[in-house]
Amino acid sequence: MSASKPPQEPGEDPIREHVFDGIAEYDKRLPNWWLMTLYATIVFAIVYWMWSQHFRRDTDGQRVDNVVRELRAAKLAAAGAFDDAALWAMSRTPSIIAAGEVTYRSTCASCHGANLEGGIGFNLADGQWVHGGAPVEIMRVVADGVAGTGMPAWGGSLGPRKTAEVVAFILSKHPAP
Ligand code: HEC
Repeated sequence: MSASKPPQEPGEDPIREHVFDGIAEYDKRLPNWWLMTLYATIVFAIVYWMWSQHFRRDTDGQRVDNVVRELRAAKLAAAGAFDDAALWAMSRTPSIIAAGEVTYRSTCASCHGANLEGGIGFNLADGQWVHGGAPVEIMRVVADGVAGTGMPAWGGSLGPRKTAEVVAFILSKHPAP
């Protein structure tokens, strides 16, 4: 059915060309606040996309990996299962390294140096191990000490958790296998 545009009053908004079933539409301008909101969301989307895809340093995947690694190491540490794999995993875990470093600074640095460079005790960063360099061997030396030398046994005063953390801190200075 054909229909024509209804007559227009002066001062009214213009009426759009099409008419359907006798119904015509005003051609109203969108309000400024509405347009500004639309443009702002477009600008925000572009800026956010650039930031999230191009400028952020770690991706979501990496952050998930880090959290999973932390949880796994924390679980191993809580279980008290300190084998080589567990100690290496702990040595790549920032929160455990940080805890181990605190113990190292207060308990070990006086003899082994602030940067593990040695002094009264041996260098712990050079990759040369007199009593064995496997994580469990290092852990045993730290826990039991070396009888007849200046290296005391720390297992009793630190307990297994802190002993493992300080070993993880030392291992963090060495490449993982
Ligand atoms: C009072 C000084 C002293 C303190 C404190 C001390 N150590 Fe030692 N440490 C030594 C000496 C001395 C040796 C060398 C033992 C020997 O002659 O075999 C040694 C050896 C070691 C070794 C063996 C290194 C190798 O080459 O096999 C490790 C590992 C070690 N210490 C870790 C630690 C840690 C971890 C702490 C802190 C919890 C610590 N030490 C605190 C004096 C100390």
